[in-house]
Amino acid sequence: MTTNRFLDGEYAPVRAELTEHALPVTGTLPDWLDGRYLRNGPNPIADVDPDTYNWFTGDGMVHGVRLSGGDALWYRNRWVDSPATERRLNRPAPDSAGRAFLHGLGANTNVIGFQGHTLALVEAGLPCAELSEELDTLGVWDFDGTVRSGYTAHPLEDPATGELHSVSYHFGLGNKVRYSVIGVDGRERRRVDITVGGSPMMHAFSLTESTVVIYDLPVTFDVETAASSAVPRRLRPIAELAMSAVVGRVPMPHLLSERLPRNRAGSLPYSWDPDYRPRVGLMPREGGDADVVWIDVDPCFVYHPMNAHEENGAVVIDLAVHDRTFDRDRTGPIDGGHRMERWTLDPLRRTCRREQLWDAAVEFPRVDDRFVGRAHDCGWVVGDEGGGLFGSLLARMGGRLGEPVVRRFGDGVFAGEFTFVPRSSDAAQGDGAVIGLVTDMANESTRLAVLDAQTLEDIAYVDLPQRVPAGFHGNWLPTASS
Ligand SMILES: [Fe+2]
Repeated sequence: MTTNRFLDGEYAPVRAELTEHALPVTGTLPDWLDGRYLRNGPNPIADVDPDTYNWFTGDGMVHGVRLSGGDALWYRNRWVDSPATERRLNRPAPDSAGRAFLHGLGANTNVIGFQGHTLALVEAGLPCAELSEELDTLGVWDFDGTVRSGYTAHPLEDPATGELHSVSYHFGLGNKVRYSVIGVDGRERRRVDITVGGSPMMHAFSLTESTVVIYDLPVTFDVETAASSAVPRRLRPIAELAMSAVVGRVPMPHLLSERLPRNRAGSLPYSWDPDYRPRVGLMPREGGDADVVWIDVDPCFVYHPMNAHEENGAVVIDLAVHDRTFDRDRTGPIDGGHRMERWTLDPLRRTCRREQLWDAAVEFPRVDDRFVGRAHDCGWVVGDEGGGLFGSLLARMGGRLGEPVVRRFGDGVFAGEFTFVPRSSDAAQGDGAVIGLVTDMANESTRLAVLDAQTLEDIAYVDLPQRVPAGFHGNWLPTASS
């Protein structure tokens, strides 16, 4: 009997890779939608222990729908190849260039297009992968060998330059996190290692036209707990074992596994750390470690900022804020309330003013990506009126505290992250469609929903041949750049 909500219901993994052509469409797909909607998420390929499974550790699976000329040409779902999937799929795992212990889990968190490449992304030092047009894994992606210690699931592309900015973390970096800029040639051109208070989980960052925002918040690597409880002499073997626990593939020595913390699920070596000093760092884009201005904030956690911009010398950020995470419940990210807030960070006074934008439990905020780092007029969120992560709620939030436009899909229906697609490259901000997956558990079916981005009214739906498990992040990759 499953006891882990991230293996049940709307989260339950699917067991097969499907390919289906000429999908049924309800309504009319706009002819300006020519490309692929792709979405990544955890989907364990084998049975996992519900007592120890953490949602973040499931094998990555990418679902995709190809749209063109008003037709839905195909649906595919493919695991991201890894050693974990090699034997069961009879496909070789991509070469990890000797980074063996970083090599167990197919990238499971995001999927993006960058300079003509389709990239499956993950964080914490795990390898990212390049996918083909039809979602087959082509190999480990390390930006032409320039990013060897892992990347992030949440880079931001500067709309002015096309460069890819990121802040990545990995317990092997010690008390550093890494800011990097990938040039339009696909290679890292700039790297700054930033000193933080310990070894925090840093799921995302924010970017303005001149500032990098670093969230140094109190979820930290558990290596000290693991080391002090079992093998005290050398950090690296412990770290490797703990990372093996993350990917769930390497048997833990009995003595160690018995002593590792097992707070419902012990498989993720990151947990809420009430003794960690929560801060947000502001670094000039061209600055260095010594230039970071640190501002204390109340204990909380941020997975997903919506967007940030500069305003009168301050950095203003709309973001989804969790009261805590991975504290009492370590099976997944919901462990306390969460909501959208606006933070105004004053680098001179070193203050953070927090305002609640909306009291609904919403997450997965997105904006019109052409305005990343700039003031935004609107953004889109999904949520659950019962306080869970996913539910029947989709909303367009105004950037200036306007009343949200709310769309409810109905009881038993779960809306995943919605991403914005502009009507044309020069369309006004927010003029276009939002696209996402909507699953009705009454008949265990999933549709790709295409909605008017402003009114959230229906434009078209595509019926998919199977239920798509609730997952992480999706994006629209237009044909011209995919
Ligand atoms: Fe995320």
